[in-house]
Amino acid sequence: MNNNYTIFKEKMSKIADINFATSVLNWDQEVNLPPNAAKIRSKQLATLSGLAHEQFTNNEMGDLLEDLSAKNGLSERERANVTEAKKTYIKYKKKPNAFVVKLSESVSKAYFAWHKAKESNDFSIFEPALNKLVDLKLEEAELIGFDDHPYDALLDEFEPNAKTKDLDVLFKDVKNQLVDFVQILAKQQQVEDKWLYYNYDKDKQWNFGIDLLKQMGYDFNSGRQDLSPHPFTTSFGASDVRVTTRINENDFNEMTWSCIHEGGHALYEQGLLIEDYGLPTGNAISLGIHESQSRLWENNVGRSLAYWKANYHNLQNLFGENLKGISVEDFYKSINKVQPSLIRTNADELTYHFHILIRYEIEKELIEGNIAVGELPEVWNAKYKDYLNIEVPDHAQGVLQDIHWSHGAFGYFPTYSLGSFYAVQFFDKAKQDIPGLESQIEQGNLLELLAWLRTNIHQYGKMYSADELCKKVTGKSLDFSHFMDYAKNKYAGIYNL
Ligand code: CO
Repeated sequence: MNNNYTIFKEKMSKIADINFATSVLNWDQEVNLPPNAAKIRSKQLATLSGLAHEQFTNNEMGDLLEDLSAKNGLSERERANVTEAKKTYIKYKKKPNAFVVKLSESVSKAYFAWHKAKESNDFSIFEPALNKLVDLKLEEAELIGFDDHPYDALLDEFEPNAKTKDLDVLFKDVKNQLVDFVQILAKQQQVEDKWLYYNYDKDKQWNFGIDLLKQMGYDFNSGRQDLSPHPFTTSFGASDVRVTTRINENDFNEMTWSCIHEGGHALYEQGLLIEDYGLPTGNAISLGIHESQSRLWENNVGRSLAYWKANYHNLQNLFGENLKGISVEDFYKSINKVQPSLIRTNADELTYHFHILIRYEIEKELIEGNIAVGELPEVWNAKYKDYLNIEVPDHAQGVLQDIHWSHGAFGYFPTYSLGSFYAVQFFDKAKQDIPGLESQIEQGNLLELLAWLRTNIHQYGKMYSADELCKKVTGKSLDFSHFMDYAKNKYAGIYNL
């Protein structure tokens, strides 16, 4: 092996040590932090991030990457690591330190302002800070550079290589096809789901969730589950990938879907190659591909009839009172009820994408300068009326509901929809490749599916771009018709079309 490649690998591994230590502190902050620790924890996190950034952007790294890029004799995987690292290096170098500090200070301010604004249901508290952030994000787009649209530069942080013009086509399809389809469902006999909101004992829910994770193949020797108000997955390397969930005793949905969803994210992280620790090929491709893994398990597996044929018996044993006389078919319909709602994170599998469509349209227009920050509440409410036929009662449940913009994360939301759409396309291919997959799922055997994901997706890390991977696995780029066919087929059964 090339000597400089060994040095590069060691440096990347040390930087990963710092980054994963940061992740441990972040995880602890979400799961365990006592109230008085917040301030000192922010300082600790800032120090470690600064250290990692310095290590990655110093001249030694620059020289190494320069030398390795010009060298022959690297394997395809090694080449991908050098190319990816160099791309990130160049991107970081374009942002002067002063800008990075200014942005991070503005994000802190915006986060606190958003928090306060949401609590007091008053958008004007958030408005000045958000205004400042939008300006800085525009400046960032200019610094990074873009060919077509400033939003491309922002998207790249979350979904490398994604382009606004492609998302425009995708979300036009969402708008034209999905909105109509949901209106058809609304005219049908509605689905009963009252039993999902009976009382479900906390401890029993917890144990049920652990069993679901084990069945998926989540490795508890390389991870653990805890409780947190906002469920998430975090990795400290493939051999320590942790998930959190939340439990609501009066809503069966919260624990179940967050458990399977985060489990899907975690399986991806556990499936990255430990020998590629710290290297791009040891890291997830993009948020969209990450989300494809969580959505595949949550929606394509977890919300299927086959899955509940395997698990409903256990659920009835635990919660017999609640589910007495409810057939597995009725239960399956209830967990797939489609109903326009106010809050993105509670949305069903179909109307979810209208929430994303709305945010995509808004943030693009903000970046284009076609709407001002002050107009956001009005624009938001109008779009909710338009696409979901919903009146937004207040800003806390409207334009202030999500944390993302307060973090300066513009270009993040589309990755949620991309994930669901990739998930269906991948799952269609898995069904072709694994004969009898559905009957395996009916028997609670999910391990062949996991092995397929490991082989076809997880093991590559960033060796391919999202689009390259999609083509490699399914033979073509992302194609929304997979999602529409899946939706029509599934919901025709549930809504008797
Ligand atoms: Co997710």
